[in-house]
This record gives sequence, structure tokens and C-alpha cells, in this order.
Amino acid sequence: MLGSDLKTSTGVRVVVADDYAQMSRLAADIVTEVIAGNPGKAITLPTGGTPRGMYEVLTERINDGSLDFYSVEFFCMDDYLGKSIDDDTSLTAWLNGAFLKPANLSGPTIHFVPTMADDPDAAAQRYDAQIQGLGGFELAVLGIGNNGHIGFNEPGSPIDAETRVVDLTIESRDQNAAYYEDGSQIPDKAMTVGVKRFLEARRIVLIVSGAGKAEIVAKALEGPISSDVPGSYLQTAKDRLTVILDEAAAANLTLS
Ligand code: GLP
Repeated sequence: MLGSDLKTSTGVRVVVADDYAQMSRLAADIVTEVIAGNPGKAITLPTGGTPRGMYEVLTERINDGSLDFYSVEFFCMDDYLGKSIDDDTSLTAWLNGAFLKPANLSGPTIHFVPTMADDPDAAAQRYDAQIQGLGGFELAVLGIGNNGHIGFNEPGSPIDAETRVVDLTIESRDQNAAYYEDGSQIPDKAMTVGVKRFLEARRIVLIVSGAGKAEIVAKALEGPISSDVPGSYLQTAKDRLTVILDEAAAANLTLS
């Protein structure tokens, strides 16, 4: 590992991993540790390309019996409005394929974003209330979009945004359409856990990999705290935040 105790110019603690595999393992280690120490508490983990390696490690541990994932309440973070787990282009279907199915996870401790509800706004509020009813998140692991979104809290989202239905930006829709070979249409609305719930988490981990994210990582961690880059709100979490990057994603930071 290049650095385990580095800080950005704004005081954010950053771990620079040698590579993607190490970033994934370090993130999985924190998830494992938090789950072991917090039975009955709530956690949320992201979807996307970035966490795939972390889920592989978690799946191994669940399957060999060294991690009891059922001891916590797991909340999916975000998904497209009107897409269910049965729709291959939903984020929940992605999560199912990358994690829930290989790790044999199902049942009442696995909470899905209620994107199919008749009244999505009310359902989002209930999802939020469920998280708060468990005392908020013990752990939120986040990725970041190229435009600085966290979950699907797009630029313009306020720092106190609750879990809700959101309009997706063209950038996010294009970024996510690229995951599907058949040029699938990405809906223009999504439901996401709100910034506020992430920022209240007892522990927040941001994982980012690759040179393509170096610029947005620097803006989020060393730029002004602004709704233009929702990832910049993470700076306010101070010591509760751990950022795990590979070398390429850390390239534009001033670390010491
Ligand atoms: C997606 C998801 C986010 C994710 C981010 C980064 O659109 N809504 O939860 O963290 O964008 O995705 P990736 O890791 O594939 O770059």
C-alpha cells in the first residue's frame, strides 16, 4: 500500500491502494468489521463498476461462513424508477447478479428500493423512515459518478436531501447506458437514498478507481463544498469518512 495515513489539503483521510484488488479488499474489510460489531444495524452499499471487486470478497466470506451478512439490515442505495429486480437493466438486478445471488442472500433483512410503488414519493419517504427507525446507517459505502453524484444525488441536490425520486442528468444516463451492449434506454427518473442519510452514517467509505475519476475525486475532496458536486458534501463528515482510492484515481490530489 502506498499510503494508509494520508490527508488531502482539506483534511480528508485517504488510503491509496496499490491497485483495484487491494482497494476492493480494504473496503470489504471495513464492511466485514462493521457488520461483525453492529448486529441489527443498517448499512448501505453501492452498485456500479467500482464495487464489483468488493462484492466478490464479501461473497467469498459469506459463503465460507466467516461473515454473517444477515446480522445487519442491508438497504439498496438507488435504482431507476419503474424498474424491478426482474428487469436486467435495473441496478437491483445488477446487485442480484453480482452479489445477492452468489452469496445466497434474500429475505426480510435485504431491503430493495421501492421503485415499483404506486406512489413512489410516499414509498421513498417510508424507505427513509425505515432507515431512520433503525438509527440511521452504521455504514455507508459510496461510489462517485463522473459528474460528482453519490447514490443518484445529482448535481443540484441539497446537502440535507432525503431519500426521494430524482431526475437523472444526461451525463448519468449516458454513463449508465454504456454498461449495456444493446444500448438500453436508461429512464429519466430514479429513486435514491438521500445525501442526508449518507452524511449521518457513523462510518462512510468512498471507493474510487481509475484515471477517469481522478478529476472528479479532486473536485469532490479538495474543491469547494457545493451542490455542483454532491460528492464534496462528504468533506463535512470529517473523521467518519475514509476514502479508498487506487493510485490512478488519486493522481490529482495533493496528499501529505
Ligand atoms: C451509478 C450509481 C452510483 C455509483 C456511481 C458510480 O450511476 N447510481 O451509486 O456509485 O454511479 O458508478 P461506477 O462505479 O460504475 O463508476
